[in-house]
Amino acid sequence: MNHTPRSRTWFRLAALYFALGVVLGVAMGASGDHSLFAVHAHINLLGWVSMALFGVIATLHPGMSEGRAAAAQFWTYNLGVPLMLGALTLRLKGFAAFEPLIGVASILIGLSVLLFAWLVFSRIGVAAGYLSRAPGESSLS
Ligand code: HEM
Ligand code: HEM
Repeated sequence: MNHTPRSRTWFRLAALYFALGVVLGVAMGASGDHSLFAVHAHINLLGWVSMALFGVIATLHPGMSEGRAAAAQFWTYNLGVPLMLGALTLRLKGFAAFEPLIGVASILIGLSVLLFAWLVFSRIGVAAGYLSRAPGESSLS
């Protein structure tokens, strides 16, 4: 499987968030303190699950990683997610002043997801000749 440099980065980030999310899950289970469960849930879902999907989709469709829109999608997500998780952790630990930062970070993530949706619609085409291929024949572009 030929990974694009961008998809390899998504996989590495996904693995790091997975490790962090599971360590936090085990720590919550062991300590009985579930106060950070929302952080755990979003490390796993915004980090591990979504980033692994970005990596798989970029591997199947290398065009998803090309150009400035793809770079903007990558950077808004990778600034927004750690900012959101850090600010949410501090907020849940009683530092109410960090609440606006959660909002700002959420907007960055939202922008990234809108860009991602645009990239899916504009960059993933149906391979030429797909409709004339035999059933089961590979058609990945
Ligand atoms: C060894 C691995 C894991 C452990 C020990 C663990 C442990 C926990 C614990 C203790 C909670 C808090 C439950 C509560 O207070 O209601 C929790 C919640 C949650 N975990 Fe994990 N977790 C693990 C892995 C994962 C993974 C891999 C994912 C996602 C891919 C995940 C997604 C969630 C979600 C979404 C919640 C929130 C559920 C809710 O809304 O109540 N966890 N986990
Ligand atoms: C900008 C992105 C996101 C923001 C700002 C956000 C915000 C929130 C908020 C405010 C809650 C309620 C928390 C509570 O009542 O304690 C929540 C819960 C939840 N969200 Fe998200 N979310 C985001 C993205 C996602 C994504 C992408 C997924 C799944 C792939 C997800 C899965 C969940 C789940 C499973 C819960 C219930 C568990 C929990 O309360 O932590 N969220 N989210």
